[in-house]
Amino acid sequence: MSPLPAHLLPDNARIVDGRLEIAGVPVEGMAARYGTPLYIYDEEHIRARCREAVAEFGEGRVVYATKAFLCRRMASLVHQEGLMLDVASGGELHTVLAARVPASSCVLHGNNKSLDELRAAIIAGVDHIVVDSFDELDRLDALHASGLPAPRVHIRVTPGVHAETHEFVSTGQDDSKFGFNLANGDADRAVERARAATSVRLVGLHCHIGSNVLNASLFVQASEAMVAMSGRCGLPELTLGGGLGVPYVSGDSAPTMKEWGAAIRAATAGLPEGTVVRVEPGRSIVATAGITVYTVGTVKSIPGVRDYVAVDGGMSDNIRPMLYGSRYEVFDPLRTDAPRTHRATLVGKHCESGDVLIEDALLPDGVKVGDLLVVPVTGAYGHSMASNYNRVPRPAVVFADEGDAGLVVRRETYEDIDSRDVG
Ligand code: LLP
Repeated sequence: MSPLPAHLLPDNARIVDGRLEIAGVPVEGMAARYGTPLYIYDEEHIRARCREAVAEFGEGRVVYATKAFLCRRMASLVHQEGLMLDVASGGELHTVLAARVPASSCVLHGNNKSLDELRAAIIAGVDHIVVDSFDELDRLDALHASGLPAPRVHIRVTPGVHAETHEFVSTGQDDSKFGFNLANGDADRAVERARAATSVRLVGLHCHIGSNVLNASLFVQASEAMVAMSGRCGLPELTLGGGLGVPYVSGDSAPTMKEWGAAIRAATAGLPEGTVVRVEPGRSIVATAGITVYTVGTVKSIPGVRDYVAVDGGMSDNIRPMLYGSRYEVFDPLRTDAPRTHRATLVGKHCESGDVLIEDALLPDGVKVGDLLVVPVTGAYGHSMASNYNRVPRPAVVFADEGDAGLVVRRETYEDIDSRDVG
């Protein structure tokens, strides 16, 4: 196994004397200063992906899916880069507004938005709400009846395209909790109802077929179905979701942002001039920008069975291997050229046998207690899905940029964890 899969690292990762630096900052220095586990992001990498997306799709046409990674600093960064922000809960909306991003740059999502979440979004003045169900239309009627203005809305459609990804993150097939079914006529019924209502202003359609999609032709299929519906409905806006996948391990390949852009442009070329076509990338903006640094605490060998290498994090900072069977690479940031030939299972510190980060990983030879290990491509759905299972504090997040590293989310403390206990 090659020492280091370079394309899995952030743009501004450099190896200096065998040691990994992110944006000119040595990883071991950040680990010493902020502790481990630690999420480190290359800020310029995130900005570069935002700019690439805007270059492909246009100003105001890229909506960052904040669920992939959100903190106040991230919200203001993507806003500075000219992206809108998809918020899928009251909590995401709250964070984005706390970062002083104007609500007019936000889109509200969610398959089960509460009355409070809808009210907050309308009062704040989000650009539009993506309506997911008939019950939500009832709630929007009630809010309008109570005196709130009618928000701009899109209707979320499940176009009947299966995204060929993990079933947990496949959302465009007929059997889905999301959106209105195209095949059974619900989508058209929702459009008719929204068009006739005074409680909403229907301006567009939306679809999102799933996440970590590696086959661009699926985006084309979904877009074609949506373009046909959009033509039938004569609506001025169409959002085609996110879902562009990324490589996680050596040998993976994914369409580039440019290829995604070209596929979507070709599939939407027949729309009337002036139709606003948006996309909602999350993972492709932020996944490869982030790495996680751990410290090895235990090395256990069971001769003839397996070696285990345990680090100071695990399922609480990266649930993706357990939840989706996702694969990752691992290497030593201080010995990046060390051959990775030691087969062992990389596990966390939680009280579950399933707390596995990488089953049968290829680890650097001679890994020992106290070593740092880096798992790359953890920038999306790592921090945002973190938990404090076993009351393990959630890691800090650091942004590295031009030779400087700064904390953007501090490490959780035991006091933070206890702070909601009453009595
Ligand atoms: N738009 C909508 C409506 C979505 O539901 C999502 C993701 C996105 C955009 C962004 O998708 P992306 O570009 O990031 O693929 N936790 C899972 C992924 C769940 C994605 C949920 N929705 C994972 O770790 O793989």
